[in-house]
Amino acid sequence: MNPAIEFKDVYLSFGEQKILDGVSFRVKQGKTLILMGGSGTGKSTTLKLVLGLLKPDGGRIFVDGQDITDLSERELIEVRQKIGMVFQEGALFDSLNVFENVGFKLFEKGVKEKDVERVVRQMLRFVDLEEAIYKMPSELSGGMRRRVGIARALVGHPKIILFDEPTAGLDPPTSCTIVELAMKLRDIEGVSSIFVTHQLRDARKLASEKIIVDEAGKLQVVKNEQGMNGDSTEFVMLKEGKIIFEGSGNELWASQDPYIREFIS
Ligand SMILES: Nc1ncnc2c1ncn2[C@@H]1O[C@H](COP(=O)(O)OP(=O)(O)OP(=O)(O)O)[C@@H](O)[C@H]1O
Ligand SMILES: [Mg+2]
Repeated sequence: MNPAIEFKDVYLSFGEQKILDGVSFRVKQGKTLILMGGSGTGKSTTLKLVLGLLKPDGGRIFVDGQDITDLSERELIEVRQKIGMVFQEGALFDSLNVFENVGFKLFEKGVKEKDVERVVRQMLRFVDLEEAIYKMPSELSGGMRRRVGIARALVGHPKIILFDEPTAGLDPPTSCTIVELAMKLRDIEGVSSIFVTHQLRDARKLASEKIIVDEAGKLQVVKNEQGMNGDSTEFVMLKEGKIIFEGSGNELWASQDPYIREFIS
């Protein structure tokens, strides 16, 4: 099976500033890759490369087995339909209500309002916010805005979702809800994802817990028996253009590398 995403020896500089200096990694189908690293290490840039919004200076990038490195803007449209993007802060249009925000792409395509509403309600149910459909972004809490951002990313049922610090600035219980949505996408929907985060607590939860369907058909959050060695989630850490760690959460937390120790302490 092709990886959902693969970087092969990718280089990227902005002027003199080297951002990615020979980076290779894979996101397996249906799995989550947690991407960590200090501020300015190229995490958001990596997500932009996956979307084809930036071109690398060297190396190859594959999405769902397809080499997207040299594709034209027109060809990239098809690739982007496989990918949902959850931006930091939710990035909602303030002048549009939740319905219009979530349905934005569909309205743009000329889909009839009735059909848009059916899809939007389905996505809002997934993030447990159907009652907010006619609210304006200014009426929502920070956590609700993020959930609307996730609902919007789910339109079109993408196989891949890119999360750029979806829990930044949220309190712990609200972050928990967001992480559990990412888990539900991974464990129930089989979506592949890159999850960029600075929040160690969220990374640990994502890697050490999973969502299952119990006998009554209800979703349950349960701990992995192997702690953060469950095979659903892997970690990559960037520093100065290089991958300085790649592996399971248990391995990351056991690392003796002084920089990593400081990062996770
Ligand atoms: N379009 C651009 N032109 C020039 N420099 C850029 C551009 N985009 C990003 N950079 C620079 O590249 C570096 C990496 O940026 P990036 O946004 O990928 O970092 P990040 O790891 O996401 O950081 P943060 O944790 O702060 O979000 C930063 O120094 C940034 O200033
Ligand atoms: Mg960033």
